[in-house]
Amino acid sequence: MALHLSRRDYLGLMAAAPGFMAAGPATAAGGAADRERRMRWWHQAKFGMFIHWGLYSVLGRHEWVMEIEGIPVAEYEKLADQFNPKPNAARYWAKLARQAGQKYMVMTTKHHEGFCLFHSQYTDYCAPKRACGRDLVKEYVEAARAEGLRVGFYYSLMDWHHPDGARCAEDEAARKRFVAYIHGQIRELMTNYGKIDILWYDVAWPLDAKGWESERMNKMVFELQPDIIVNNRNRLEGDFSTPEQRIQAAKGKAWEACMTMNDSWGYHAADDAWKSPKTIVRNLITCARQGGNYLLNIGPRADGSVPEESVKILGSVGRWMARNGDTIYGADPCQVWQAKCCSFTRKGKTLYVQSHFWPGETLAIAGLRCKVLSVKMHATGQPVKFEQDEFRVRCFGLPPAAPDDPVTTLDFECDAEPTQDMLYVRRNRPRRGV
Ligand code: GLC
Repeated sequence: MALHLSRRDYLGLMAAAPGFMAAGPATAAGGAADRERRMRWWHQAKFGMFIHWGLYSVLGRHEWVMEIEGIPVAEYEKLADQFNPKPNAARYWAKLARQAGQKYMVMTTKHHEGFCLFHSQYTDYCAPKRACGRDLVKEYVEAARAEGLRVGFYYSLMDWHHPDGARCAEDEAARKRFVAYIHGQIRELMTNYGKIDILWYDVAWPLDAKGWESERMNKMVFELQPDIIVNNRNRLEGDFSTPEQRIQAAKGKAWEACMTMNDSWGYHAADDAWKSPKTIVRNLITCARQGGNYLLNIGPRADGSVPEESVKILGSVGRWMARNGDTIYGADPCQVWQAKCCSFTRKGKTLYVQSHFWPGETLAIAGLRCKVLSVKMHATGQPVKFEQDEFRVRCFGLPPAAPDDPVTTLDFECDAEPTQDMLYVRRNRPRRGV
């Protein structure tokens, strides 16, 4: 999943760095400086937990099951009589997130199925008025706060349950009713749960920004929550873009890659396509290197329990983050990228060399255009012997087996911001006559 950037791309990603946000385009919330202020914690945080939870969790066959299996609304609705999670399941998720090193959470308050996990005056199709009898968004917010995590709300604009949810594109009266419903629910979410840090819109089908009245939507959100950040999925630019299931740096703009741990967002009992902890850590490093964030999903079961595999993966990632988190949080964009055994992050003049395929006693990096002053093992602080010439830095005397798992970090202290030029190596390395 590593992304290789040209120098031009690098300029783009530098422009997305926190310090550069002041030059970005103005927003409904009060301009670029205001955006930089609201986004600051998020740029530091780098790593969040996504939670997909709803009636689909009862069936355990993906969050799109209603549409994919063509389940009639009247039949699907009955799941609301079965969805009755144990109280405060979110406390466990929040602990899991904190231990994994995640700094914020984003939970589905309403997915495309239309069922609301929060109390809404606009519908009876919501957890407090059905079998569950409790406001699950309230429980979630309290849980996240108790663990010191920032709180995000995912909210799907597309709605497969609301009678106007599809016809609103052709029928103006339906659009007006539907937009009043959606705006009304967003107002509830922005009013009833205290300070909210992120609003994460999803799927704007079947309307455009004009149809959704998205400018007015964001304006209301910022009036109610002056510190909030919003994504780009209500068909406006928002504060950050949301590449899905892939890592793609946005030029001149903040971005967050969201990803599942297997192939499904909602709980899927049979989905065993789990990523390894190494893949997850490498993805997180790749995001941090390019100035982005990583939002990693769990799909709890209907009772709120989390699939064991997800717990195991988050545990490994968390143990790694406990030793190496300071190479991720607040990382600066890093231009160095070329090495098949390593990825990189950077803070100031320190290059973190993150080796995922441990090469053994000697580890070499080509093309660095700065002087390396010292090298040490990140986790233990142990100094590492190295030598540097014009073309490479070579560390030697390293342990034959990888000292850390799943990725080992070495700190290269440099005399300037580390950059790399592989063409310089290719062109100038002395050649011998044929
Ligand atoms: C998509 C999917 C959805 C998932 C989301 C996460 O829009 O429709 O199921 O919630 O992406 O990014």
